[in-house]
Amino acid sequence: MGMVGIVLGSGLGVLAEEVDITNEVDFTEAGLAVSTVPGHAGKFLFGKLGGTDVCLMKGRVHLYEGHGAEAVTAGVRWMAEHGVSSLVLTNAAGSVNRDFTPGEWMMLSDHLNLTGASPLSGASFIDMSVAYDAAWRADFRKVAKGQGMKLNEGIYAGLRGPQYETPAEIRMLRTVGADAVGMSTVLEAIQARALGLRVVGFSCLTNWAAGMQENLNHEEVLETGKSAARVMARLLKEVIAAREAP
Ligand code: HPA
Repeated sequence: MGMVGIVLGSGLGVLAEEVDITNEVDFTEAGLAVSTVPGHAGKFLFGKLGGTDVCLMKGRVHLYEGHGAEAVTAGVRWMAEHGVSSLVLTNAAGSVNRDFTPGEWMMLSDHLNLTGASPLSGASFIDMSVAYDAAWRADFRKVAKGQGMKLNEGIYAGLRGPQYETPAEIRMLRTVGADAVGMSTVLEAIQARALGLRVVGFSCLTNWAAGMQENLNHEEVLETGKSAARVMARLLKEVIAAREAP
């Protein structure tokens, strides 16, 4: 059975406390670029979550730090080379959908890659019609329900950033079908699908998107992530422990 990789978004590092860590590899040791954003220390943590082998990736790098699409997705390729066959992508995002309240989670049903970038080159015409695995999503939906956890589902718009959006941009994103907005995940999902990994994605809705509340700051994003991370840890633990080998 392949390992489950879990990419931890902003403020979601506390998820690592749920894992019995047996080995750590720093990004620098793995030959990866290191993030400079607070709350993004770069390492891979190997261990067990609910009896299943997992590899946590803590501290992804982002396009807005000046890295290219290849550097942003290097962690996904590294994990695939080290035995990961299923990948859970998490992120912090702003809620664009008025029915999805900050503090809640949204499982990605699909995404809009609005970064203008791709980790693939040449004739990599991969099928993205089901980027986020339908059967795995059904498992998460079922377990969340059993746990009494509100798990929203919707479309994540991935932008380059680093500035947060304007209210006009948020209205545009809502019009084109986005439910949440952030600055990561989409390129990693593309890379993972190109490698044949099974992918799911989760947005921790840390705030209302621009124009939906007074203002926006990075501290608020990190704080909300921390408490919501416990809820996600419980969900991941149960689903990953119960999962069938792919
Ligand atoms: N916009 C973009 N990225 C984000 C946001 C947001 O409102 N919140 C957390 N990451």
